[in-house]
Amino acid sequence: MKTKSQLFSNDILIIGYGAQAKAWALNLRDSKREVTIGLREASSSASLVKEMGFPTLTLSKDNISSYQNLIILTPDDQHSSILRSISSMFSEDQNIFYAHGFSVTYEKLNELYPKQNHILLAPKAIASEVRYAYETKGPLTAASSVEHASSAQSQQSLKQLAKDLGINVGPLEVSFKDETYGDLFSEQSILCSLIPYGAKASFDKLKEKGISEDMAYIECWHEVKLIADAMLKFGPVEFFKLISPNALMGGEKARKQIFSSNLLKTYDNLYSDIESGKFFHDTKDFDFQKLKSDVIKEWSNHPLQDLYNKLGTKLRPR
Ligand SMILES: NC(=O)c1ccc[n+]([C@@H]2O[C@H](COP(=O)([O-])OP(=O)(O)OC[C@H]3O[C@@H](n4cnc5c(N)ncnc54)[C@H](OP(=O)(O)O)[C@@H]3O)[C@@H](O)[C@H]2O)c1
Repeated sequence: MKTKSQLFSNDILIIGYGAQAKAWALNLRDSKREVTIGLREASSSASLVKEMGFPTLTLSKDNISSYQNLIILTPDDQHSSILRSISSMFSEDQNIFYAHGFSVTYEKLNELYPKQNHILLAPKAIASEVRYAYETKGPLTAASSVEHASSAQSQQSLKQLAKDLGINVGPLEVSFKDETYGDLFSEQSILCSLIPYGAKASFDKLKEKGISEDMAYIECWHEVKLIADAMLKFGPVEFFKLISPNALMGGEKARKQIFSSNLLKTYDNLYSDIESGKFFHDTKDFDFQKLKSDVIKEWSNHPLQDLYNKLGTKLRPR
């Protein structure tokens, strides 16, 4: 007797062709997986997908029931409506892969579609690094979960997909919730706040005090990568052994002032909003396009961008 999974005649349908999808599609195809791209009607990506040589289908028109693995790589706030629009074509035991746990954690997609396997495979890298690590056989890790997948084939499908994507460390087995909360919190507490805006505020202060812009760029923007590389390469103990005495003393002095109870209270508030679902609700009806264009405008008009164009492109990693 055929198992349900043996009934699928097609392998992978990637939904969307944005940042992650481009890297996933290339990596999986290079790993000899059969990849089709599913796009919305009149998608602006249709010509690029064709140019890249991937078969394509239109989500609202074509049948998706024969694909064993659906990989949803569109913005997280679109997952629920996209799955709703194609759910009448779902097959029992189909795998739905997510590159971030957000939509399953907050919108309980696993409860809405209990006959499908909802699997997390979240690469811990931006899209360009997912492709670069694959091409160079460099280290790449991910977070994974099969907690919302009941079928026996899910674990094997996840293992194979991770390998074919180029995940060669782990993946770390976590819950959808832990991946979601961890990812959102670190973006807010450090990665997309303290690092870029700390660099900007530091640059602005040096400039205000008359330090040359070139010097300020190197110290505040370029050196972020050098420090981050050393942290990863050597670990915390060796990192703090390696930095100069002045850097050690100055860092300690600043730490006591910057990491005040106010900052720690802010961290508590940010985490509470993630945990309570307030942040998720705030994303509903939020005008991401407007925020993006405002932020891009702010950075386009800032000297750090000109200095990046002048100096940074020559010093760009790899
Ligand atoms: N970006 C990263 O580096 C990164 C890192 C880790 C995890 N992730 C996760 O990976 C997933 C994808 O993120 P991403 O940044 O790659 O997304 P993205 O680039 O913003 O995705 C854009 C793609 O989604 C399609 N799309 C948007 N709305 C759609 C809709 N309603 N129906 C059908 N297609 C729609 C777009 O279609 P058109 O082509 O027609 O415009 C486009 O192809 C998310 O879950 C994200 O959290 C991203």
